[in-house]
Amino acid sequence: MTNALWKSLYFATITGLSWCSCCYDAGPGQNPNIPAIAQYFSTKGRYEEVNPYLINDILAVNSSALQPPSPQCRQIHLTAIIRHGTRYPTAKNVKKMQDVHRVVQNSTGGRDSWLREIRDWRMWYTEDMDGRLVRKGVDDLRHLAVRLSKLFPSLVAEEKLRGGRIKFITSSKHRCVNSTLSFIAGLTEAWAIRDMEVEHAVNDALMRFFDKCTKFLEEVDKNPSALIEADKFKRGPEMKRVQEKLADRLDVPYDLITYDLVEAAFYLCAYEFAIKTVNSPWCRLFDQKDAQVMEFALDLKQFWKRAYGHDINSKSSCILFHDVFSRLDKAVTEHNSGREVTEAVTVQVGHAETLLPLLTLLGFFKDSRPLTSANYATQTHRSFRTSRMIPYAANFLLVLYDCGGEDIRLQPLVNEQPIAFPGLTDQGESMPLYEDVKRQYQELLQGCDFETVCELFKTPTEG
Ligand SMILES: *[C@@H]1O[C@H](CO)[C@@H](O)[C@H](O)[C@H]1NC(C)=O
Ligand SMILES: *[C@@H]1O[C@H](CO)[C@@H](O)[C@H](O)[C@H]1NC(C)=O
Ligand SMILES: *[C@@H]1O[C@H](CO)[C@@H](O)[C@H](O)[C@H]1NC(C)=O
Repeated sequence: MTNALWKSLYFATITGLSWCSCCYDAGPGQNPNIPAIAQYFSTKGRYEEVNPYLINDILAVNSSALQPPSPQCRQIHLTAIIRHGTRYPTAKNVKKMQDVHRVVQNSTGGRDSWLREIRDWRMWYTEDMDGRLVRKGVDDLRHLAVRLSKLFPSLVAEEKLRGGRIKFITSSKHRCVNSTLSFIAGLTEAWAIRDMEVEHAVNDALMRFFDKCTKFLEEVDKNPSALIEADKFKRGPEMKRVQEKLADRLDVPYDLITYDLVEAAFYLCAYEFAIKTVNSPWCRLFDQKDAQVMEFALDLKQFWKRAYGHDINSKSSCILFHDVFSRLDKAVTEHNSGREVTEAVTVQVGHAETLLPLLTLLGFFKDSRPLTSANYATQTHRSFRTSRMIPYAANFLLVLYDCGGEDIRLQPLVNEQPIAFPGLTDQGESMPLYEDVKRQYQELLQGCDFETVCELFKTPTEG
């Protein structure tokens, strides 16, 4: 399908929608095609909810947001670490969705017509879908590729691709390989390239480091007590209220509605929206307060399993951390010695579980207090919100600039928005000197050895 055709189809499904911040607070009456709770879907959220201007124009970029310190700054390298696009639920989640579907079909409450709509809703998710990329996921990556070519025109450029200076590395999971191919297709379609094959490398050691880090696997992944705060919250008063409200809406006994069923219903709303762009009747089971509680429960899980909750979570990404910085070093060295940078662009496609530990290792989205089962109320304005950080097609970009002489700068962006390196904010802008960034991460650069930190029964003393 051509870009233009797809776009027109896409907009046909969200007719009459004009972007404004009111979309979020609006009741379903005002923007019937976007669930009122769409900004709380955590890792099941749509990228467009993070950058709402994309709802009007999926290829829009805001180049002025990059704001290099002087107009003579030139882009010399881009590393893009990208999560795969929108996908089907995994087999495990499909099972839970089937469970909640059965409970709802059994419910007798019939006062509301939307309840009948849920009962009539046909369960179409099957276990064999097992997390594969959907059509919307293909477009997530195709469109991201085009936007990056607009944001970084001298790097994500046809002659760089033809010259083999854009490199692709992906996790072996089908959804990631497909995302990589979709990103490449976005570029080759945009430049009408038909006479060349673009290669990609599969590298799970880099993109699925979490599977290879023994200490992480033993102490967190397979250790139920590592998630004790998340579990406590699921049994706590805020969640109990969400379960009771849902039971009331369905007119079923309270003890029938477990946390897992609530989560499955929430995910059904999220998947129907992300995959088909429909505001399904499942969304009516939650109001905004409920959705905020659900989001916090999901954030808690990510916090303790992939982020600041345990030190090994972020340390497991040491291998990717060093890979990124050695590539940046190489680009700077080549550039400073007057050569053309070998890898103008590196695109690395992985998972939410790839991005979150790395962002954590670098200190992004760190609140002054950890997220716990007891501080839902005081964490309302937390920066650790997975809905904003890691929706489908989430991306972490590192852009090297030459601003004249040996003035080399590094700009980090998350989901195409510039952010500041923690501890380097006194620079007044988000583009510090590369040397200052390296000084900031000196300890990690000198330590953070994957083999050492992932070894079980050994506490590394450095990095
Ligand atoms: C683009 O970025 C500039 C600078 O950060 C900002 O002031 C402006 O609001 C942005 N525009 C949009 C449409 O987001
Ligand atoms: C559906 O209702 C029947 C009859 O009340 C009951 O036996 C069965 O356990 C219910 N099933 C579910 C999934 O709630
Ligand atoms: C990628 O996913 C899309 C959408 O599910 C599918 O149509 C396509 O065949 C997949 N591509 C590959 C190479 O598997």
